[in-house]
Amino acid sequence: MAEAKAAASAAGNAVPAAGTVPALHIDKLRAGYGPTVVLEDVCLTLPERGALALLGRNGVGKTTLLASIMGHSSFHGGAIHYRGKAIHALEPHERSRLGIGYVPQTRDVFPSLTVEENLAVAARPGRWPMARVYELFPRLAERRGHMGNQISGGEQQMLSIGRALMGDPALLLLDEPLEGLAPIIVQTLLKSIERLIREEALTVILVEQSVRLALEVTQQAIVLNRGRIAYSGESAALLADAEKLSALVMAG
Ligand SMILES: Nc1ncnc2c1ncn2[C@@H]1O[C@H](COP(=O)(O)OP(=O)(O)OP(=O)(O)O)[C@@H](O)[C@H]1O
Ligand SMILES: [Mg+2]
Repeated sequence: MAEAKAAASAAGNAVPAAGTVPALHIDKLRAGYGPTVVLEDVCLTLPERGALALLGRNGVGKTTLLASIMGHSSFHGGAIHYRGKAIHALEPHERSRLGIGYVPQTRDVFPSLTVEENLAVAARPGRWPMARVYELFPRLAERRGHMGNQISGGEQQMLSIGRALMGDPALLLLDEPLEGLAPIIVQTLLKSIERLIREEALTVILVEQSVRLALEVTQQAIVLNRGRIAYSGESAALLADAEKLSALVMAG
């Protein structure tokens, strides 16, 4: 079973091996905001420990898809299963308790709490006590007494990821974690994200404008276009096809 899983995730599969329950299975999802439908007919299957790059130009629905998995959008139809359980009718806090962690594009750091207090409010017993978050992000340990609004953008992003980890997720949704950061911070954060994917047994969905970086650290990729899936397949295959990549996601 473990071998089948490893082989499946190495191949960046879209269909789980027989007998395994995928971490996430989305079927014909329709979702949006109020009566407005943004996502149409979105399907995806992500195995446990799989990593998926969720790509597409501005405004195509990437954030809406993460919000829909978390329960922050309006559900119009289809189904979302997490570890075999239908979750599309659950409240966001129930999905969070089941093990889904969300790092929003807006980095929801509390400005008037210290770094340590920001982490403490999200604490849940499990694999990520504060000491492990500080070990993953030593910069946060150095800044533990600073207020949320006194730290840099990169540190805020680390804090936002650290807060999600404190909730002990098995599935982590990352919405443009590298956006607007200096190249050196991008490299530091990317190494931490790679560690989460390769060593920490997390299942990850990574939304990223730095398309090549996202494809390099994931096995599977989905490209959205106007709320529909325009590509679904292996990250390596998309990375190797410059023409297709440029037609699907690059600016212009
Ligand atoms: N709260 C909202 N209420 C109504 N419509 C929204 C809301 N948030 C987003 N939209 C619309 O939904 C569509 C998809 O937006 P979404 O934020 O999911 O795109 P995105 O791919 O994440 O874009 P970006 O790359 O700019 O972050 C857009 O047309 C956007 O205007
Ligand atoms: Mg977005």
